[in-house]
Amino acid sequence: MLAAAAVRLDPEDPLAALSVGQQPDPGDLPADWVSVRVRAASLNHHDLFSLRGVGLAADRLPMILGCDAAGVTPEGEDVVVHAVIGDPAAGGGDETLDPRRTLLSELHPGTLAEAVAVPRRNLVLKPPELSFEEAACLPTAWLTAYRMVVSRAGLPAEGGGTLLVQGAGGGVSTAAVLIAKAVGHTVFVTSRDAGKRERAAALGADAVFESGARLPRRVDAVLETVGAATWGHSLRALRPGGRIVVSGATSGPNPPAELNRVFFQQLSVVGSTMGSRDELVDLLALLVRTGIRPPVQQVWPLARARDAFARLAAGDVFGKLVLTP
Ligand SMILES: NC(=O)c1ccc[n+]([C@@H]2O[C@H](COP(=O)([O-])OP(=O)(O)OC[C@H]3O[C@@H](n4cnc5c(N)ncnc54)[C@H](OP(=O)(O)O)[C@@H]3O)[C@@H](O)[C@H]2O)c1
Repeated sequence: MLAAAAVRLDPEDPLAALSVGQQPDPGDLPADWVSVRVRAASLNHHDLFSLRGVGLAADRLPMILGCDAAGVTPEGEDVVVHAVIGDPAAGGGDETLDPRRTLLSELHPGTLAEAVAVPRRNLVLKPPELSFEEAACLPTAWLTAYRMVVSRAGLPAEGGGTLLVQGAGGGVSTAAVLIAKAVGHTVFVTSRDAGKRERAAALGADAVFESGARLPRRVDAVLETVGAATWGHSLRALRPGGRIVVSGATSGPNPPAELNRVFFQQLSVVGSTMGSRDELVDLLALLVRTGIRPPVQQVWPLARARDAFARLAAGDVFGKLVLTP
């Protein structure tokens, strides 16, 4: 079948490690697994990290990339594929806390293909209100943003908190803005790019700022996926007792800790990764209820995956890039 795969690892030139061509079909599956015919799959920064060799070992190559898909089961059900392969029982009811959990494309072949195999419990019915392209954006970037905003930021469930989102254009950032507004928070957004700031405002952000700019007031929580480039600003942006929720470090994982600011201002730094299947079900319900949808920037046929990866690598993204087999 046609697939986009990592065939080697290249820390400097991830596109050189990408192959768009034939890879084996899912083949024989364990009894509780199912092969889903992919109708749409979306890219994440994770796929670029995999090509660079971050989180993907050479002995697992070739590896079909992709965490996110929506498709059709052999029984004809329209489904969204939950990307976390893990045992909820091993994580106290939360598969993201299973020490052996993996994401699709880390151990098991991923979604940038004509078909993907997953445990049956990883399937969630796709609401008819969402297109396959929209649904394919949800399992990684949107689920991560949902957990960060709703479960980890410590903001009031009834809304009324103030949140800073670092970075405007990313899959996680755009999702965070839309989700946070939908649940009633005030949202500030930073970006390096004036055009992306404008687009974040059009999405509903209450105020937009250049990366590193002074904010009009301190915030209750910051959503961090940028890492070293914005970390100091995130610490300075928080009110005393505020909380940083961090799920990524695109610009580098080792910023200065500034521990004096953390203890003197009594800040919390909280990690967050993906979300559970239950949270994916809740996220789908939120989209149906509120009408918010993932901004899909561009859809390509799977055969043109290289063009989509080039765009992601160039940072020329606002929202999600989608591939259709
Ligand atoms: N832990 C998890 O479960 C999880 C899940 C999803 C994603 N992640 C991680 O979260 C990060 C974002 O993922 P994504 O898929 O949303 O990526 P993406 O679509 O490529 O977005 C990258 C974001 O980073 C910002 N950015 C990049 N370099 C920057 C710099 N030097 N200074 C300021 N801003 C910078 C960009 O903002 P502007 O261009 O607007 O400035 C953009 O919003 C990645 O590191 C990814 O691995 C983690």
